[in-house]
Amino acid sequence: MRDVTENLRAVEMVRRARPTVEGAGVNLVRAFHAQELPGLDPFLMLDDFHSDDPADYEAGFPSHPHRGMETVTYMIKGSADHKDSIGNRGTIGPGDVQWMTAGSGIIHGEMPHGDEGMQGFQLWINLPRASKMMAPRYQDIKRDMIPVVKPAEDVEVRVIAGKAFGAEGPVKDLVVPVEYLDVKIGPGGRFGHDVPKGRATFAYVFEGQGSFGKGGERAGAEDLVVYGVGAGVEVTASDQGVRFLLVSGEPVREPIAWRGPVVMNTEAELRQAFDEIRAGTFVKSG
Ligand code: FE2
Repeated sequence: MRDVTENLRAVEMVRRARPTVEGAGVNLVRAFHAQELPGLDPFLMLDDFHSDDPADYEAGFPSHPHRGMETVTYMIKGSADHKDSIGNRGTIGPGDVQWMTAGSGIIHGEMPHGDEGMQGFQLWINLPRASKMMAPRYQDIKRDMIPVVKPAEDVEVRVIAGKAFGAEGPVKDLVVPVEYLDVKIGPGGRFGHDVPKGRATFAYVFEGQGSFGKGGERAGAEDLVVYGVGAGVEVTASDQGVRFLLVSGEPVREPIAWRGPVVMNTEAELRQAFDEIRAGTFVKSG
C-alpha cells in the first residue's frame, strides 16, 4: 500500500549534520537549528547523538531548565536516565520515546548510557504563545506502545505521533500537530506517503542511503532532507536499504526569542525566565 498522491513535495535541500558539543561535553551532530534554517517552523532543532565510545556521551546533560518548548527524545540504541523538578524519574530505553512539554518550566537532567554504544535523537518543537506557560507534562512511550506497520513487503514504519497507514501514534493531545515516523526500507524498496498539507516536513537519514525526491536527490546517514510544499513524499532505498525519521509539523508562525533552553516570543520574557532561574522561582507547577 502506498498512500501517496501525484502532488509530490520537491526536495529543497539536502544538508549534512554538523559536529557539535552540548551539555556537559556530549559529542553529537546537529541536523539543523532554526536560527540557520527557519523554514522548518515549528521545529527548532534536531540533534543526533550516536557513538560507540562512552566518552562521547557519558558526561550527559546534567540539571538544566526548559520553558516555552517541547523536547522529543527517541532512543534507538542505549538508554537515557532522566529526573526532573516535578518528580518524574525514569529511563528511556532502546525504542522508547519521551515527549516532554516544558510549558512554564521544568528543571531536568538527562544522562545517556550504554556499554554497547548509543544512538538517539532529540527534536525541539516550539510552543505557541497561548501554550508557552502551560503546566509541564511528560509522555513516556515504551517501545511496545508504538505501532509498527508494513505498508509494503520491504517497508517498516513506526508511527510515533500522528496517523499513518491506518495506525495512530501513542503520543496524545499534541499542542502543535506533528507527525513523527521512523521509516525503514529494505534494499531497493520504495515508500510513499502523503504528509499532511501545509506542514513543514523533513527527513533525517540515520542508516543506509536512498533517493528522496523526484529529482533523484540522494541522502545517506547524517543527511537532513528538507521538503518544499506539496503533499506526497516518495523514497527509494539504495541496495543497502535506508532508515530515516520523517517528521512534519504545523508552523507556529510567531516571533521567537531564544536563549539556550528557553524559547519565548519576546526578549522581556527571556529576561524574566533567566531572572526567575537566578531567583529560584522558575518552576511554577508540579
Ligand atoms: Fe533538556
